[in-house]
Amino acid sequence: MTGLRLKSLLPQGPLVEVTFKGEVISLPEGANLATALQEYGVEGFRQTPTRGVARSPFCMMGVCFDCLLEVDGVTRQSCMIEVRAGIDIRPARQSREGPYESL
Ligand code: FES
Repeated sequence: MTGLRLKSLLPQGPLVEVTFKGEVISLPEGANLATALQEYGVEGFRQTPTRGVARSPFCMMGVCFDCLLEVDGVTRQSCMIEVRAGIDIRPARQSREGPYESL
């Protein structure tokens, strides 16, 4: 049921290729990146620095930082970014623990 709700929020535009963790995948151009990745099946966008608990997008308005990813080399809230062709998406680096490996 959740997948249907998220899919209804995605633009119906063409799919474009992006790189996610070194793998080429297709996402809807212009879609909200966090929503598109969740619809693609990504869970656990980042881990908490102390316990390593997986976190996923929550507020969808740039406040909670649970959707942090590295996009084209810059750590950003993925809920504040639109999908565009060729972007490189990786787990966000965390200063105390290094790059996340759990995505
Ligand atoms: S989901 Fe909260 S900052 Fe992106």
